[in-house]
Amino acid sequence: MHKDVGEILISESEINEIVKRLAKEIDNDYAGKDWLMVGVLKGSILFMADLMKAMENDFKIDFVVVSSYADGTESTGRVNVLKDISQSIEGKDLLIVEDIIDSGNTLHFLVKYFYAKGAASVKIVTLFDKPDRRRVDVPVEYVGKVIPDAFIVGYGLDYAEKYRTLPYVGILKPEVYS
Ligand code: PRP
Repeated sequence: MHKDVGEILISESEINEIVKRLAKEIDNDYAGKDWLMVGVLKGSILFMADLMKAMENDFKIDFVVVSSYADGTESTGRVNVLKDISQSIEGKDLLIVEDIIDSGNTLHFLVKYFYAKGAASVKIVTLFDKPDRRRVDVPVEYVGKVIPDAFIVGYGLDYAEKYRTLPYVGILKPEVYS
């Protein structure tokens, strides 16, 4: 285990099980459709890669890069689009892939943003949900796991751009960020 991690909250094998379950549900719901999976970088990178591999049906992918944390632990509430989607989404069915929903600011912004660009439908899959932290309500179709309000890192999740590559999700030791 990484020296800055106090405990493992979600193991690699539990993540695998969650990803397989979500992949099956999404496969069933989107069967026969021509749709677009949109990853929100950077946090969703490992989740999206594993989710795609676990799915049977074909679909297209794209990415956006947004940021609202500015290296801190609290959302600033202002969502910046650092890299926009690279194609027209007029009339398309979109599924946004997120690693985590916290305040809800990022997804609240993105859903509106994609509808404003003409998407036919915009749904969300998030690996983790921290409902205790929610500040804006966002309907989420697929949730991997509801988790407590702990400062977690790993499997895409960072603190100041570190720990994203850990294959599990761990709780960061408080002395690392306080
Ligand atoms: C994280 C995470 C989500 C967002 C969730 O991204 O990946 O996109 O915060 O928080 P919210 O519900 O409070 O908006 P971040 O802005 O840290 O960028 P990153 O994906 O590059 O880590």
